[in-house]
Parts: sequence; C-alpha cells; structure tokens
Amino acid sequence: MKHFNLKVSAISLALALFAGGVLAQGGAAEDLVAGMERADMTYRQLMEVMGGASGMMHEGILRQNPQMVKSGADIILTHPAPSHQPWSIMPEDRQADFKWSLVSFDKLLDQHSEATVEAAAKKDWLKASQSLQELNTACISCHSMWKDEVK
Ligand code: HEC
Repeated sequence: MKHFNLKVSAISLALALFAGGVLAQGGAAEDLVAGMERADMTYRQLMEVMGGASGMMHEGILRQNPQMVKSGADIILTHPAPSHQPWSIMPEDRQADFKWSLVSFDKLLDQHSEATVEAAAKKDWLKASQSLQELNTACISCHSMWKDEVK
C-alpha cells in the first residue's frame, strides 16, 4: 500500500512536472513572479516562511483544527515573490531549469495545499494527512534537485 502510494505520487509529480514544462516555455516564470506581490525578503527567508506554514498545517491536523490548517495553507497559496528574481540564486547556466521548477512546483504546492484544506474542512483527518504528505514530498523533491545548486 505504501509503495503503491509512493508510486502514485511519483507519477502525479512526473505529470505535473511535464505540464509545468510545457507551460514554462513562454517566460512563465517571469509571468508567475510578475503576478505576485513583492516581499522585502530573500528567497531563503521566504522558504523559512513556507516551513512555518507547513508546520502550522501539520499542527492543525494533529489538533483537528480545520482553521489552523487553512491558515497555514493560505500562506503557501498566497505567498509573495522574494525581493530579487528567485532564479538569481542559481548559477547562470542553471537558471532556465530552475525557472521551470519554480513554475511547475508552484502549481503542485497549490494543488496539495488545497486538497489538504478540503479534507480538513470535512474533518477527514487521514485524507488531510495524506495530502499534507504529498505537499511535503513536493517540497522535498525540489530540495533534492536544487538545494545543493544554490551559488
Ligand atoms: C522550486 C523549488 C522549491 C520548492 C517547491 C520548495 N523549496 Fe524550499 N528551498 C528551495 C531552495 C533552492 C532552498 C535553498 C535556498 C537557499 O539556500 O538560499 C530551499 C530552502 C528551504 C528551507 C531552508 C531555509 C534556510 O533558512 O536554509 C526550508 C525550511 C524550505 N525550503 C521549506 C520548504 C517548504 C516547506 C516547501 C513546500 C511547501 C518548499 N520549501 C518548497 C527550493 C524549493
């Protein structure tokens, strides 16, 4: 069962990445960032906020508090852009690929955050936990691809 779930998440991740790749072809990362509010913080500080947000979602599930889950998810769903172009943290020759990841993962984070909120609103805590797990898997997939590439 566990293996099955992992396989399903890997497949949905691959599909989302593919869809993101198709989207990313028209300067989608620039469009994504242009449509966001700019915050007075770096990409890394934004990531710290994301960590706090997913922690709040986790705690909301443990406490069976749907509003707490929603508050955490809203931070992810409405997160601003950092003060600099996010891809500027990567070496020049890796920036195009990182843009691609930014766009595809942004959609994936939104999908899994929304699914977690929906399940929590229905007090389906096992489902909420599973969706949060998928959210975490998306975060960690991006980290395993990119964290060591930061210049
Ligand atoms: C598009 C890829 C990507 C996605 C998606 C992503 N991260 Fe990150 N994250 C990074 C990178 C790159 C760094 C390293 C940033 C640096 O060192 O400047 C990072 C760093 C972090 C850090 C460490 C910050 C620090 O101070 O060192 C945390 C915490 C974090 N991310 C949380 C999350 C959470 C939670 C999610 C999902 C909700 C997430 N990230 C999704 C790319 C991503």
